[in-house]
Amino acid sequence: MCGIVGYIGKNQAAPIILGGLEKLEYRGYDSAGMAIISEDGKLTYEKSVGRLKVLDELTHGGSLLPGHAGIGHTRWATHGVPSNENAHPHFNEAETIAVVHNGIIENYIQLRDKLTKKGYKFHSETDTEVLAHMLDRYYKGNPLETITRVMHRVEGSYALGIIFADHPDEIYAVRKDSPLVVGRNEEGCFIASDVPAMLKHTRTVYYVENQEIACLKADELHFYSIDEEELEKQPTEIDWDANAAEKGGYEHFMLKEMYEQPKAIRETLIPQNNPRIRSNDIVIEELNMSDEEIKAIRKIHIVACGSAYHAGMSGKYVIEGLARIPVEVDLASEFRYRDPIIEEGALVIVISQSGETADTKEALHLSQSKGFPVLGIVNVVGSAIAREADKVMYTWAGPEIAVATTKAYSAQLIALYLLAMKFARVRGTVTDEYFKELLEDIQRLPDQVEMLLESRKRIQRFANRYIGAKDVFYIGRGADYATALESALKLKEISYVHSEAYAAGELKHGTISLIEEGTLVTALATQEALYQKTVSNMVEVKSRGAFVLAVTNEGNKDIEKAADYVIHIPTTNQWMANSLAIVPMQLFAYYVALGKGCDIDKPRNLAKSVTVE
Ligand code: AGP
Repeated sequence: MCGIVGYIGKNQAAPIILGGLEKLEYRGYDSAGMAIISEDGKLTYEKSVGRLKVLDELTHGGSLLPGHAGIGHTRWATHGVPSNENAHPHFNEAETIAVVHNGIIENYIQLRDKLTKKGYKFHSETDTEVLAHMLDRYYKGNPLETITRVMHRVEGSYALGIIFADHPDEIYAVRKDSPLVVGRNEEGCFIASDVPAMLKHTRTVYYVENQEIACLKADELHFYSIDEEELEKQPTEIDWDANAAEKGGYEHFMLKEMYEQPKAIRETLIPQNNPRIRSNDIVIEELNMSDEEIKAIRKIHIVACGSAYHAGMSGKYVIEGLARIPVEVDLASEFRYRDPIIEEGALVIVISQSGETADTKEALHLSQSKGFPVLGIVNVVGSAIAREADKVMYTWAGPEIAVATTKAYSAQLIALYLLAMKFARVRGTVTDEYFKELLEDIQRLPDQVEMLLESRKRIQRFANRYIGAKDVFYIGRGADYATALESALKLKEISYVHSEAYAAGELKHGTISLIEEGTLVTALATQEALYQKTVSNMVEVKSRGAFVLAVTNEGNKDIEKAADYVIHIPTTNQWMANSLAIVPMQLFAYYVALGKGCDIDKPRNLAKSVTVE
């Protein structure tokens, strides 16, 4: 979490840094700061608590900090509360070295003790400040040598931007286990935690690998290994549309991204250069598995966090249902510490929108260390998980900015359906006729999602009644339970309304005692084989005073007897209904949050990429 930005070049650095930070605010937004080197080698800086606009106002759009080189930071607090002292950049005592950091220095307490004994004074509660003092301690005029000495001594994860006042023509950047890109155009060089921060200025980027150091000058770019050897690096040309990371007239990124779901689904089904549906079959080249290898899969482990975990839960139902392969789904934060048993013939799949999530990345490393190659389902091209996984199946949802995921989640579902169908076809667990039906259904999903999005006014009216809700429950059976989990997460993360998901049959084992007169219970009832059972659970809660909202398939009219309000989804097969049922639930969460006046794209305490465990 946290975003770092840096610039050196012909233009004023501060406005460019502010512009870059604005694009990275999704990574953290409790405080911000920047340090600039002026022409005469003076280091000036400003920090502020709160959103980036406070820093912008404080520096008059950056004009109060003149200079052609600088670094900036937007923070998601890990060590110490949001305050000016804890905001980055951090400095050595003489304020001649400044550093911005994304990540966590794990041995900072030991390092701080050592530095304190040597007379260094600390002004913040952060782990980052040790870096500034360590740089000071080893600095004898050679920045590269100093940085590598510090790198040898710190443990943990970091992407750093560093400036030295006596080297006003250079900025340095280095990374280990936190993302970092470097960019270049005719007028200067850039560093950032993520590509959108520099897209306005350049599409030519270099992905910095673990323990590599970049030295940026106005018209030169050098990369070094931790042994100070110069490296040759090839640039990558970013080909996505810069507008993809803009709001484009929508009030919030989340709303825009919900509306981009049909496109995200289409692109994931039929990526432009490599369609996954061809000649009435499914072709997933990146899987790189022969039919024999697919037939030999004995178990699948799906590992992920948050919404990606919920997508994995849906994946379990569809893969087990269609391909008859047992699937175990784990939260990455649990998987990595429980010494999981992965047996011969297992396929490990990790799912991540950002490709940066610390726990998911560790789950990947753990599986690899046990000798199991990992398939990553990832959205951000070139991200750490995409680079480190043995095989990558991209979800082509495009950049997702809102903290609450919508289109990337929908694209993850599609990737899992494709895998399930592919495996089922090869293993002969579905008939040709049924496979054909599934192929038709999956291609109908984008239009069906579009239809559901059209009902947004109706959902907004309904949501307005629940702006004051205290607790909301979501229930469902089978694959509907996975949608219930995701629906509850969407509501709580952006509207701060307490919401819980339960397998519908589980409710009467305790939770039903929470139902009071008027409590909203949303029942997902798209699984025809389980429909009557879910309806019985609805009747149980309704008779105890609950207001029941039902989401069910077109044609299920009789549900009206058990529900107070019904949303029908278009007809599809049972495995793909999740893709449709989630849409009204996303809209509901969005409109409750809107009605409450919440900061929808940047909910409190959250960040888009969770790069710490
Ligand atoms: C979803 O709305 C959340 N913001 C969060 O649960 C997210 O899905 C989770 O942190 C995983 O992120 P990833 O897909 O980038 O790994």
